[in-house]
Amino acid sequence: MAQYSNKHSQFVKIAFVAVLGCVAVAQALIVEVKDGNRTCIKAELSASLSIVYSTSNATSTASLPLPDSATLGSSSSCGGAGRAPWLAVAFGSGHSLGLGFSSDGNQYSVDNLTLEYNLSDSALFPDASGSGLVTLSTASTGILAGINTTYRCVSDSVVRLGGDGVSVTFSNVKMEAYMPVDDLSLNETICTADRSVTTQVLPTTPPKTSAVTTGPAPTPPGNPERGNYTVTNSNGTICLLARMGLQLNLTYTPSSLNTTIQQIMNLQPNQMRNTGSCGQSSATLWLLEEDTNTNLSFSFALNTTTNKYHLSAISLTAAWPDMSEPFSGSNGSLDYLRGTLGRSYMCSAEQTLFVLSNFSLNTFQLQVQPFGVSGDQFGAAEECQLDEDNMLIPIIVGAALAGLVLIVLVAYLIGRKRSHAGYQTI
Ligand SMILES: *[C@@H]1O[C@H](CO)[C@@H](O)[C@H](O)[C@H]1NC(C)=O
Ligand SMILES: *[C@@H]1O[C@H](CO)[C@@H](O)[C@H](O)[C@H]1NC(C)=O
Ligand SMILES: *[C@@H]1O[C@H](CO)[C@@H](O)[C@H](O)[C@H]1NC(C)=O
Ligand SMILES: *[C@@H]1O[C@H](CO)[C@@H](O)[C@H](O)[C@H]1NC(C)=O
Ligand SMILES: *[C@@H]1O[C@H](CO)[C@@H](O)[C@H](O)[C@H]1NC(C)=O
Ligand SMILES: *[C@@H]1O[C@H](CO)[C@@H](O)[C@H](O)[C@H]1NC(C)=O
Ligand SMILES: *[C@@H]1O[C@H](CO)[C@@H](O)[C@H](O)[C@H]1NC(C)=O
Ligand SMILES: *[C@@H]1O[C@H](CO)[C@@H](O)[C@H](O)[C@H]1NC(C)=O
Ligand SMILES: *[C@@H]1O[C@H](CO)[C@@H](O)[C@H](O)[C@H]1NC(C)=O
Ligand SMILES: *[C@@H]1O[C@H](CO)[C@@H](O)[C@H](O)[C@H]1NC(C)=O
Repeated sequence: MAQYSNKHSQFVKIAFVAVLGCVAVAQALIVEVKDGNRTCIKAELSASLSIVYSTSNATSTASLPLPDSATLGSSSSCGGAGRAPWLAVAFGSGHSLGLGFSSDGNQYSVDNLTLEYNLSDSALFPDASGSGLVTLSTASTGILAGINTTYRCVSDSVVRLGGDGVSVTFSNVKMEAYMPVDDLSLNETICTADRSVTTQVLPTTPPKTSAVTTGPAPTPPGNPERGNYTVTNSNGTICLLARMGLQLNLTYTPSSLNTTIQQIMNLQPNQMRNTGSCGQSSATLWLLEEDTNTNLSFSFALNTTTNKYHLSAISLTAAWPDMSEPFSGSNGSLDYLRGTLGRSYMCSAEQTLFVLSNFSLNTFQLQVQPFGVSGDQFGAAEECQLDEDNMLIPIIVGAALAGLVLIVLVAYLIGRKRSHAGYQTI
């Protein structure tokens, strides 16, 4: 029998976020679901609700933050016996918000968000034409994290329910279910929105019912961290070396919006696993980021007559939490990163590899060698054109400075000769 400790559900005003001189005060709700002495779900979150309802001759919108009078709902449970773990918070006159969790052993997600509101509450729903409880739920919340990690999302994320202008906007979320210990794990799964910058490309007219406040724009991700990747042969020798920072540029439709967005996301080397394979004239590097279900591969081809290699194919599958459907795309007729057998290809400058109309890849500080690796070191580097162009600038500046010095010197010498001559005539 599960017990719910209400003394643990307390509401603390946490975040005082200063944005360009304005002070936004967000309230964070802290709730824990316990089974005996064991904590199985803990959440610190802020949420605001927007509910469109009918009045006698129009519709009206009720907007409210999840109030600090909310308490842990009695339906909360750690699950078991065929029931999913469930976190419910109750507030006001019979309203509640419930989150249902599921896990596949490697990841857990919120696969049921249920909002129950009481139209008879005339303080919240003045002039409502209906009455009694309304229940709406959705399975698509975008909340997904690795097991034994805390899901963290500072950015606003909007979850729509029922499609009739009812939504819940979460922000400043820290949450964990299936907890191995009684407190939040220090390992975190950072949501996609916090790691990327989104540019809306095809905005449709926003639904007029949306009273959702937008938070500060997500900060751009900056340059990606550089990762080191190797592929080894079946006999244990290294056959491919790569060192690079990678940034994905994807266009897709998120489940929470009815429009296409462009998402720039940095791959995080410390979260990636890499494998691959090498053959006589082809070599493939596979990169897998489990957190975001991102699977990226690079295939290199070697022309054995000319001893030149190039990057011939890139493929990507991604199932990010907010995607309405998994992304999958590849292009096998590419011709990038051209180098010579036994040497490495290097490009320190940012390079954009166009793959498909909805997918390109930006590389930073790249060095690869797909064939003819000896030991674990890169061969002599062949620089890309971009780097050579960048090298030209200091050379030109240097030459210009040298020229200037020469002119000044010549002018000085001429001037000195003239004045010398002047002394003699006087
Ligand atoms: C919970 O912990 C207390 C003290 O730590 C202990 O006395 C009690 O037996 C525990 N209860 C359960 C159900 O484990
Ligand atoms: C109906 O709509 C009119 C004009 O929009 C408004 O003046 C009136 O108060 C509304 N009646 C009710 C009962 O809400
Ligand atoms: C709904 O609100 C009304 C009015 O505040 C209240 O009397 C009723 O008990 C509420 N219903 C539930 C299920 O809490
Ligand atoms: C969410 O859970 C509630 C209660 O168990 C259920 O009635 C509802 O159908 C579920 N919704 C979805 C979308 O799975
Ligand atoms: C999660 O942590 C528990 C307890 O520390 C451990 O038994 C389990 O193997 C871990 N699971 C994963 C997928 O790391
Ligand atoms: C390892 O395998 C590669 C090709 O598969 C071969 O060229 C190389 O000689 C092998 N090295 C050893 C030590 O067997
Ligand atoms: C992402 O791709 C789009 C279209 O392909 C392009 O306009 C945009 O500049 C790219 N952004 C970055 C940061 O590469
Ligand atoms: C999404 O867009 C389609 C087509 O433009 C439209 O039919 C549908 O009603 C929209 N759905 C929502 C929830 O806005
Ligand atoms: C290798 O390069 C030569 C010269 O560019 C070309 O004629 C030949 O078709 C290429 N071979 C392969 C297998 O691509
Ligand atoms: C694949 O890449 C090539 C070379 O960049 C490009 O010409 C072609 O349009 C791409 N294919 C698709 C389907 O975009």
